[in-house]
Amino acid sequence: MRTRRAALAVTAVSLALSLTACGQSSDGGGKEEKKGGKGSTVGIAMPTKSSERWIADGKNMVSQFEELGYKTNLQYGEDNVAQQVAQIENMITKGVDVLVIAAIDGRALSDVLQQAAAQNIKVISYDRLILGTKNVDYYASFDNEKVGVLQATYLVDKLGLKSGKKGPFNIELFAGSPDDNNTGYFFDGAWKTLKPYIDKKQLVVGSGQTKLDQVTTLRWDGGTAQRRMDDLLTKSYGSQDVDAVLSPYDGISIGILSALKSDGYGTPAKPYPLVTGQDAEVASIKSIIAGNQTMTVYKDTRALAKQAVQMADAVLNDKKAEVNDEKSYNNGTKVVPAYLLNPVSVDKTNYQKELVDSGYIKASDLT
Ligand code: GAL
Repeated sequence: MRTRRAALAVTAVSLALSLTACGQSSDGGGKEEKKGGKGSTVGIAMPTKSSERWIADGKNMVSQFEELGYKTNLQYGEDNVAQQVAQIENMITKGVDVLVIAAIDGRALSDVLQQAAAQNIKVISYDRLILGTKNVDYYASFDNEKVGVLQATYLVDKLGLKSGKKGPFNIELFAGSPDDNNTGYFFDGAWKTLKPYIDKKQLVVGSGQTKLDQVTTLRWDGGTAQRRMDDLLTKSYGSQDVDAVLSPYDGISIGILSALKSDGYGTPAKPYPLVTGQDAEVASIKSIIAGNQTMTVYKDTRALAKQAVQMADAVLNDKKAEVNDEKSYNNGTKVVPAYLLNPVSVDKTNYQKELVDSGYIKASDLT
């Protein structure tokens, strides 16, 4: 401990010198002195503003950190990995005291987090696990495998597969971005739920595409999913209809529904298949109310922000953060202590209670 302190002190002094040499302020005396107190600055790196959930995540954290007396520096990487790395580097240079990061590419941050570690800046991995580095201290997320289980269980229930008599039904599978660690968890949860019915031929994947690397959607992009769905409908569904689509995220579901609409679905004669989703975004809740998308998985970003805030507050005060899982999330280098929240399945029957009554979505946004 003493050696580590001494090393930190040396780092702090050399940092102070190097910052002075660059003509920047070191905030009066190095990391050791300023890191603990309120008034410290939290660097928040979020992946994109193209999805409303990340806008909410950023806002929620800024307001919760400010309530505790922290300053914040919130940046969005716009799904550009190099841009996110540069933003984090910039936060380190500016002397943030702790980092909260939702990575665009979970494997791309090792070098920049080494720079953070050299300055004793602790790192909270937000929603998506940062991979392949020891320099990540805590992970705040949801039970990601359960998200996939909820999506697939919904399909199994609605198709009535448990009786063992119904089917065969045609299904297509979509997964998230290959560089997001969550993608595999969502898909695995869904796959293990669907597989018994695929084995019994109650479910048939018309395209034959069942491997994760055949079904991913780079950067969770709705347009990319739309193009893949167009292609699947053209190549695999000449005379048959698709009955269900496993979609991992609302933005992807919207793309899938557009492809289905262009193919003539969405009429009384040819209703939409069951289409899952995730994030309870306003556009998808409207779609669910209209009878297009079928369900989504609600993950309360207010509660997630709260966990990230308690973790950052703890590390800045040299305390242990509250966690509820110390085994599930191995990032390839270490098991990252995590706080995992519970995702909730939402459809037409419970959106009012779960989303509107809880204040997550305003009723007026849905009209
Ligand atoms: C995942 C996240 C999902 C969804 C997706 C696309 O990492 O867990 O809830 O937001 O990114 O943004």
